[in-house]
Amino acid sequence: MCGIIGYVGPQGTDVTSILLNGLSRLEYRGYDSAGIAVLTSAGSLELHRRSGKIANLADAVENGSRPGQGTLGIGHTRWATHGRPNDVNAHPHPDCTGVLTVVHNGIIENYAELRQELQQTGHTFCSETDTEVLSHLIEHYYFHQASHDLVESVRFALLRVTGSYAIAVVSREHADLLVGARCNGPLIVGLGEQEQFLASDIPAILKHTRRVLILEEGEIVALRPNSVTVSTLDGKTVQRGPLIVEWDAEAAEKGGYPHFVLKEIYEQPDALRRALLGRIREGQLHLAEMERMQRTGLFDNVQRVLIIACGSSHHAGMLAKYIIEQWARIPVEAVTAAEFRYCDPLVGPETLCIAVTQSGETADTLVGIRQAREQGAPVIAITNVVASAITRLADAVLYLQAGPEIGVVSTKTFICSLAVLYLLALYLGQQRGRISNEQANTILAALERIPGQMQHVLDSARSADDTIEPLAKRIARVSSIMFIGRSVGYPTALEGALKLKEISYIHAEGFPAGELKHGSIALLDPDTPLVAIATSSHVYEKVVSNMQEVRARDARVIAVATAGDEGIRRHADDVLYVPETLEALSPLLAIIPLQLFAYHAAVARGCNVDQPRNLAKSVTVE
Ligand code: G6P
Repeated sequence: MCGIIGYVGPQGTDVTSILLNGLSRLEYRGYDSAGIAVLTSAGSLELHRRSGKIANLADAVENGSRPGQGTLGIGHTRWATHGRPNDVNAHPHPDCTGVLTVVHNGIIENYAELRQELQQTGHTFCSETDTEVLSHLIEHYYFHQASHDLVESVRFALLRVTGSYAIAVVSREHADLLVGARCNGPLIVGLGEQEQFLASDIPAILKHTRRVLILEEGEIVALRPNSVTVSTLDGKTVQRGPLIVEWDAEAAEKGGYPHFVLKEIYEQPDALRRALLGRIREGQLHLAEMERMQRTGLFDNVQRVLIIACGSSHHAGMLAKYIIEQWARIPVEAVTAAEFRYCDPLVGPETLCIAVTQSGETADTLVGIRQAREQGAPVIAITNVVASAITRLADAVLYLQAGPEIGVVSTKTFICSLAVLYLLALYLGQQRGRISNEQANTILAALERIPGQMQHVLDSARSADDTIEPLAKRIARVSSIMFIGRSVGYPTALEGALKLKEISYIHAEGFPAGELKHGSIALLDPDTPLVAIATSSHVYEKVVSNMQEVRARDARVIAVATAGDEGIRRHADDVLYVPETLEALSPLLAIIPLQLFAYHAAVARGCNVDQPRNLAKSVTVE
């Protein structure tokens, strides 16, 4: 949801290249327009903004007046909230004087009042954005109360603002100063040698440094080539040491794959191994992260579990409902975060809340969890992003350890969320005495076999015998596809449908297999295929009956089935096989052919797989 990059360093740096390169790593956050502002060594603040993708901006910069070398600059890639995605609404937004310019991620909720007030005092607005009020508000303080002190001007301005933001601000009058601030929007500092970086996310600066300072909510940072000073909005200095990022720039590159999504699908066996790393030792479960919660008695009164999440993370949560209920015998509800807060939730210390959010920044999930906390609920966060906003709202954090995921749609983070939820379910089951050591050993051993089994599915998909890509190419012409499943097959069907619609724009719906006949079966015809999750399970026969009902309506049926199940061929036109595992773990394998199916269908339709229209990876607005 918008990406920010900033740079400050020595004279004579190719700031333009640093900003464009950083933006290209952040494009997954939004891609409807982009812009940069560079303070050149000659002292001019040069602004370039273009609607469309970063490539448009890069072309405009290279073919136009490319800013000369300089010391300072900011850049932005936008996911529009206020104002259409055109050149004028693209960031950075200058003030009236052209001395200052601002980039922003988030929403200024009181922008209408501020805009009116600023217009009344003579400020001229050029765009329809909420961001532009920040430019003029900072201008107001800069030239009046703060006597050209940029940090103080930003501080004064932010004290007037309500809403969410991560911002970067520069002034033509301060060639060695870059100012950033955050409140409910991600922002990190990359610490270099005589140069500093500001960014929404780590991949944007990884090429330059692995030393990172994570800003907290309500903090302002002043970056100079040789220093970084963090303070709070009320002016108190903050001391904080850097984190060292363990993955390198290569992890955030395509590595020979045509798309990040395909690379990330193929990385899933390794990502899953990392998610399990250190958590299964000599066949035993070790969830060190839970120990503090356990010691402080936060589990003692837990009578139910609430899983709060959005999108693919919600599907992982829905799957976990089946697993936790089965293994730990606690009632579980999986709710979509965007609705949770509006149902006047009944939560308290007896409700264990689990937030699943790969980005750790999804506004709907953060708001829901904040509310649950206020009502006294213990909170566990499951996220991929170290020190992200959700981690500050949680009693315990379980990291996915999936490595960077650049493709907008979740693939490996879905798998790793699921893996961590399985471990948590097992932990709760053992803690409540519902799972014997023998059962736990069987589950953990099966879980440890999954990466190799996944690899088998992925290797077959690359071999001459692959059936997924040819099938996806044939199906790519249809306008609608249904997905059905029962029990753990149901959220798997939902996730398969979500992947397909997100990247191929084919209308896809997932249903509980038994529910289909209660209405949606009316949509089936020979041009509407149906995908059935028909892996070995206690509901297998029932799913097969549902497939028969579908075939009786002349719809084409594609089954995801367990290797060796030749009988399924009598009920399906096409079969995608996955290796056998425990029924509870089967979604980890069943989703793989569905991800590949969505990928190949999208490629066949000429869609932008890594950056699907209208989506963003991290949605920091409600
Ligand atoms: C966005 C993405 C989805 C993702 C959802 C939740 O809508 O496009 O792919 O599943 O956010 O993201 P989270 O970071 O909270 O898991």
